[in-house]
Amino acid sequence: MKFKRNIIITGGAGFIGSHVVRLFVNKYPDYRVINVDKLTYAGNLANLKDVEDATNYTFVKADICDFDTMFALMGQYNVDGIIHLAAESHVDRSIKDPFTFARTNVMGTLSLLQAAKLYWESLPEGYAGKRFYHISTDEVYGALELTRPDGEPPYGDEFFVETTKYNPHSPYSASKASSDHFVRAFHDTYGMPTIVTNCSNNYGPYQFPEKLIPLFINNIRNRKPLPVYGKGENVRDWLYVIDHARAIDVIFHNGKDAETYNIGGFNEWKNIDLIKVIVKTVDRLLGNPEGSSLDLITYVTDRAGHDLRYAIDSSKLKKELGWEPSLQFEEGIEKTVGWYLDNQEWMDNITTGDYEKYYEEMYKGR
Ligand code: NAD
Ligand code: TYD
Repeated sequence: MKFKRNIIITGGAGFIGSHVVRLFVNKYPDYRVINVDKLTYAGNLANLKDVEDATNYTFVKADICDFDTMFALMGQYNVDGIIHLAAESHVDRSIKDPFTFARTNVMGTLSLLQAAKLYWESLPEGYAGKRFYHISTDEVYGALELTRPDGEPPYGDEFFVETTKYNPHSPYSASKASSDHFVRAFHDTYGMPTIVTNCSNNYGPYQFPEKLIPLFINNIRNRKPLPVYGKGENVRDWLYVIDHARAIDVIFHNGKDAETYNIGGFNEWKNIDLIKVIVKTVDRLLGNPEGSSLDLITYVTDRAGHDLRYAIDSSKLKKELGWEPSLQFEEGIEKTVGWYLDNQEWMDNITTGDYEKYYEEMYKGR
């Protein structure tokens, strides 16, 4: 079958990637979607069970750092679009093992860029009709102040905009910042049609349970402590993952070359307030007396270099491309908690074995 477009999505077996793959496979039956994923601890093909037999879906197990394989894939599938999500994504892991983050996030992105460059430049039409779309994070901008810590959000007067100066603090955000620079350099130096987007914290189904929301839902279910870093006063801006996937669809198709778009939902929460909402929702859905799991909240040593506040201004994306979040947070969190409680097998398959050992090690001494 001849496809209208042939798109590589890297990291498609991970949390956000699996939602992007699902959306593209279902919405565009005339596109071939090639999911390139190394299947690290964070990659899980169970996230894509419902699309694995689709005729327009292909899975390739490969490391983005393997330049020869990336270059071969470009030609084998006549790739004209790349949506790049593969990355090491957890800040706490980056503090323990920064090398892996530099390797995958920086060298892996560079390997993919160079493979696309050599392939596209070898074609008669060159870069015409091509797109390299890099998915990044708001964490590259650093941290904002809490100038209005009390009362209702927003908790500060400043927001991250597309022109905010990069100021990453963690090895994770430093590696993502570096990869963003390489993507822009390939546009400026070689004329590659690139786009970068920087998104706020995502939540929703299929997130690996080392991240705050799925970790806490699972710990409440198992009556385990909920480790709150520091005083729980850090602020994050939360977006439902399917709204991020919708934004990626809109930007991949309608975004302008060389542009940056910030993606976020104007939805700031102090960690401790968010945690209380999670506890309340899990207790209610499990039929526990309201608030009965609040006693699991345990304040632990803060994360080193813990960024105080992230807050995205996504008005450029709304104004130029008409994207807005579709879900209110209350609805999103209800769906999310419900999904994890209904999919305990998915969770149990991940949280047994090696992960259990990792988790004990990670929280030792906190
Ligand atoms: P994730 O950790 O859930 O998934 C990452 C995926 O990449 C996994 O499937 C893993 O197997 C794959 N991968 C890792 N190293 C690889 C390699 N060398 N070669 C091929 N595949 C490899 O991550 P996520 O939360 O879905 O994040 C996806 C992207 O979105 C990342 O680039 C991240 O920086 C960015 N992002 C995430 C968030 C968030 O809140 N999760 C917010 C903004 C941006
Ligand atoms: P996380 O989900 O790791 O995302 P990020 O660090 O990329 O924002 O963490 C979200 C917030 O929750 C962050 O401020 C750190 C905090 N946190 C805890 O307090 N306890 C935990 O066990 C985890 C994983 C995170």
